Amino acid sequence: MSVLNGKKYNIITFGCQMNEHDSETIAGMLQEKGCFAVPSKEESDITVINTCSIRENADKRFFGTLGQLKKIKERNPDYIACVCGCMMQQQHIVDTVKSKYPWVDIIFGTHTIHKFPELLEKVCLEKQKVTELLEDSREIVEGLPAKRLYPHKAFVNIMYGCNNFCTYCIVPYTRGREKSRSPLEIILEVKQLVADGVKEVTLLGQNVNSYRGKHDDSGNICGSDPIQTWDFADLIYALNSIDGLERIRFMTSHPKDLSDKLIRAFVDCKKLCNYIHLPIQSGSSRILQAMNRKYTREQYLELVRKLREAVPRITISTDIIVGFPGETEEDFQQTLSLVREVKYDSAFTFLYSMRPGTPAAKYDDQIPEDVKHERFNRLVDAVNDASMEKNSAYVGRMEKVLVDGASKKDENTLTGRTEGFKLVDFSGDMSLTGQLIDVEITEGKTFSLRGRIKNNA
Ligand code: SAH
Ligand code: SF4
Ligand code: F3S
Repeated sequence: MSVLNGKKYNIITFGCQMNEHDSETIAGMLQEKGCFAVPSKEESDITVINTCSIRENADKRFFGTLGQLKKIKERNPDYIACVCGCMMQQQHIVDTVKSKYPWVDIIFGTHTIHKFPELLEKVCLEKQKVTELLEDSREIVEGLPAKRLYPHKAFVNIMYGCNNFCTYCIVPYTRGREKSRSPLEIILEVKQLVADGVKEVTLLGQNVNSYRGKHDDSGNICGSDPIQTWDFADLIYALNSIDGLERIRFMTSHPKDLSDKLIRAFVDCKKLCNYIHLPIQSGSSRILQAMNRKYTREQYLELVRKLREAVPRITISTDIIVGFPGETEEDFQQTLSLVREVKYDSAFTFLYSMRPGTPAAKYDDQIPEDVKHERFNRLVDAVNDASMEKNSAYVGRMEKVLVDGASKKDENTLTGRTEGFKLVDFSGDMSLTGQLIDVEITEGKTFSLRGRIKNNA
């Protein structure tokens, strides 16, 4: 029996779905060792903070939380404080943690997650601090357990890392170079998830469109011909034929690599949800070039046109950064006009945040904070107008909703997602959680829809 058996753990997760899924893996590994989850760090014997470095405020929130662990350690000398994730892939952060936060026992990174149980056991037995970091790794560790947040939907990593080096972004430095999982591993994982009751999978990668999965198994997988290297669309076609799976989603798709074959897959694959998150970042081709995004405004708009032509019902969301170095009022006007032209269903808007170590951090034409904020407010208005218009058009429509459970705001309200990833609130019985049901939309709001259940068995 492990020395960890019976210990209480609490995981605090910052950042994107990759990190959420990594935390599910960390939880899975701890459960295997006999640990069990508790709702707060104050009650735990082991706290893990899984960090994000995408913007400066993510860094700040981490250090704030880390400061709070000191008191817990003082009360309980056996308490183990662990930090991991993207911030730990940066030497200056690790140095700060070691010098200013001496109550941290374990530091590990994005390439050493699988080592965590071993490190914990070592710390428990030897009462020493440990650091286990790798700058990058070519290895993909398969077969790790996961304690998933929902029984009916699951994240599935299809690739790791990023090769794109957008000039503002820290991810290529924290997640290493791109590597794709083998299609066979992915298919086996999805089949197992379906056998466990999962109806919807979200395929994860920083740029799923550049997925290149090699499989050395020459046998047929899911009825497709044996091919050596699969692209992302090949993978979608194969997953679409898995019995019992109802929905396939993916995150995130880089416009520069979005193929006609993938657009075709939206038409051919009934399980592929009619929804795409297609980050634009800026509406100005000049800024896009400075960001190293490798597409122009015109190329992006052409992609949106093709997607909507092939799949008229498709919903589109995006990410936009305001205040990238050198962004002029004219550049910003181009972003506003693009938002008005595309009319996104929803958009995540960000103030440009300088990330040490990235090329854009060294550009000298940084935009003053007040200008960034003022542009940001105008952008949010344009984004919200479009979302409201899109959502209002749903009134009277019937939508298939996968029920996630009680709404966070109100226990008596259920919440779920339409195929187009719109959040819907409606009254109903908790027992519908995890089911796909028909909901009639009665109201469109800026960030969600309201509906009522129709004709369900
Ligand atoms: N791989 C994804 C994005 C992952 S990061 C893609 O390329 O589409 C999620 C979002 O954070 C990005 O799309 C971008 O809009 C935002 N972001 C990344 N770095 C940022 C920075 N330094 N400042 C502000 N926003 C940033
Ligand atoms: Fe960052 Fe660009 Fe990679 Fe996305 S594609 S993770 S924005 S470098
Ligand atoms: Fe995700 Fe943040 Fe890392 S957005 S990849 S957790 S830097």
